[in-house]
Order: sequence, then structure tokens, then C-alpha cells
Amino acid sequence: MKYVRMAIEKESPEQLGYDKIKYNLTESSIRDRSLSDFGVVVEDMLLPYGDHFGKEELREVIAAQWGKPLTAENILVTSGAAGALFIIATSLLEKGDHIVVVRPNYATNIETPRAIGCDISYVDLTFEEGFRVDVEKVESFMNDRTKLISFTSPHNPTGTVLREEELKVLVDLAERRGCWLLLDETYRELAYGKQTSPAATLSDRAISVSSMSKSYGIPGIRIGWLATQDPELYELFLSAKEQIGICGSVVDEEIAFQVLKNKDTWMPQILEYNKKAFNTMKKWIESEEAMEWVEPEGGVVCFPRIKPSLPVDIDLFYDRLNNEYGTYVGPGHWFEMPRNYMRIGYAWPLPEELEKGLEGISLAIKDSLKAR
Ligand SMILES: Cc1ncc(COP(=O)(O)O)c(C=O)c1O
Repeated sequence: MKYVRMAIEKESPEQLGYDKIKYNLTESSIRDRSLSDFGVVVEDMLLPYGDHFGKEELREVIAAQWGKPLTAENILVTSGAAGALFIIATSLLEKGDHIVVVRPNYATNIETPRAIGCDISYVDLTFEEGFRVDVEKVESFMNDRTKLISFTSPHNPTGTVLREEELKVLVDLAERRGCWLLLDETYRELAYGKQTSPAATLSDRAISVSSMSKSYGIPGIRIGWLATQDPELYELFLSAKEQIGICGSVVDEEIAFQVLKNKDTWMPQILEYNKKAFNTMKKWIESEEAMEWVEPEGGVVCFPRIKPSLPVDIDLFYDRLNNEYGTYVGPGHWFEMPRNYMRIGYAWPLPEELEKGLEGISLAIKDSLKAR
């Protein structure tokens, strides 16, 4: 493995220091929550090694929410979705194996296969194509060594969502070609419309990944999971988990269980807040002539750009944005994209912070326009 630190982690707000940021539009989750926000009480508890698969009741709740044919035996609790993605990549892939992955993407989905030394074909999303993939064309990226097709939906950073028919085309492709389909569904609860079936419910060739971090705003408990119907694959992933950390934290798993079992209480409130934030975002972008976007269909982020035709000094823009207006966004280079693109997380900031942050973007653009 050749590890390289990713820009999105090096420059993340937690590494920069939250106290240095006035208007934090970098986040890709809802606002961080505390135990009491969810009415969670953790009584005195024994702190032994936990169930290596993950707390049974937690896996039962996840499986029940995701639906048949999944059961608790198909769910492996991991250290965040990031832990699941790492386990999957390092268990399935070896140097020289070929994979097909969407770009831009949550950086780990690209970086871990890269660190392994995989041969990677990128399905590049473009603004002009509405950041959508023509799934019928994915097969043309594959070859005889393709082991994995890797998609994310709802997508980070663009907020696009796979349709059920598109997902089925990908599942069918993985089955026909005898490779794996990985669907990173970390944002699945936050799709605006009807959610697609969890990929792992559709086929034993599909692996789903999700997490408590983004939809519930509790990344500090580091609880995610993967789902697979294939018992051999499950055993392989479990072996990796045991070698990395034996089991997860029993405290974290208890908290996740208590939150998730009351999903029907929390999720409507969360979605309502997100909708208001989305409306603020939409209103601003539609009135800001220097910017354009592909309207997201889910999640809590969007990936707009400063119009390429505008003569903006982009380094000056970020300098003014951060240092004069105290506003931070996820710059394009976090996603291997030009820096006139930026990821804006609209549901983490409080309403006033969002308004001020967006205003900061408008002002920083004005400040950095070069005379023609
Ligand atoms: C698409 C996607 N997958 C996985 C993760 C990792 O999340 P977790 O905190 O659950 O490890 C992120 C975090 O940004 C993400 O955006």
C-alpha cells in the first residue's frame, strides 16, 4: 500500500481548527448532534470486546430498515463508512486489478484503490451532462481484469442520485461480468425523493455501505456498516475487520443502536431542516449571476461553479473568502476538479451562518474579478 494523505483530510475543518472558521460551508453532513439531542442515555456499562460482527440489535435494526432479503447476518458494523470502504477495497483488490470508479467522488473511494496500485478507469462526471452517468456506457470502461465497479449515491460532492432503473443496469452488469458492484450509500436517508433499493438487497454481487455520520450528524461515534448477501464475502470482510481492530467500540454501537431504532422520530425533523437549508441555497444560487449549479437531488451538499467565462483570480477568491469573509467551502481540488468548482455543505451551518457564508462567496467573487 502506498498511502498518501488526501487534501480533503489535510485541509478539513477539524484539522484547521473550528475556531478559525466563522461560516463553515465545508461540511458534508447535517450539523453535529449530541447524545441529548437524540434523548440517548448511556447507563453504566461493561466495556468488553464487542461482537465481532457488531452489536446484534444494531445489525437487526439496520437489516430491518434496509429490507429483505437482508438479515442481521448480512450486516458488518465498521468504523464509519470509511472503515467499510477500506475493508472492501483491501479485501477485494490487489495491485494491477482493474476497477471502474466515478470521479469526482468521496476521496477514499478513489485513493484506497490507488494506494493498492489498482489500474483505474474513471467515469468522469461533467457539469454539462448534469453530473449524471450514462449507465449503459459503463461496460465500455471495463476489461477482463475488472473486479469492481464503484458508485456513490446520493453522490458526494454533486448530490445526484441514481434512479432505480440505473441501479438495476449496474447490478445486471456486475452479475453478467462476474465482478462486484460497490454502492456507497452513506447519504441514502437524505435523498429528496423516493430512495432506491439498497444495492445489497438486489444481488449477491452488490455491496452496500452506509453510516451514522452524515444523516444523523454523529461522525464522532465512528459507526458505519457494509451489507452483502454473499457469506464468503462476509467472512472475508470480517477477517479484515478482525485484523484491523478485532471489533468496534461497544459504547459507539450502543449509541448508534439507540439513535437508529428511533429513526422515524428523528428523520422527518432532519429532512425538514435540510429542505429549508436547500431552499436558502437555491434562492441564493439563482440570484448569484456569477455562479451556476446542477441542482442536487439528495444529500446535503452541492457542487456549483463560478462561471468559467468569468475572469476570476481563483487564488485571490479563496484567499478573500477565507481570510476576509471567514467562510470556508470545499474547493474543487479536494475532488480533483478545477478550483472554480466548490462543494457547499448547506445543512451543517445554522440558517444565519449559511446566509452569511453565501454572501461571503458573492463578495469574494466580486473582489477577485480581474479587469478585462
Ligand atoms: C460518500 C461518503 N462515503 C463515506 C464517507 C465516510 O463517512 P464516515 O464518517 O461514516 O466514515 C463520507 C464522508 O464524507 C462520504 O461522503
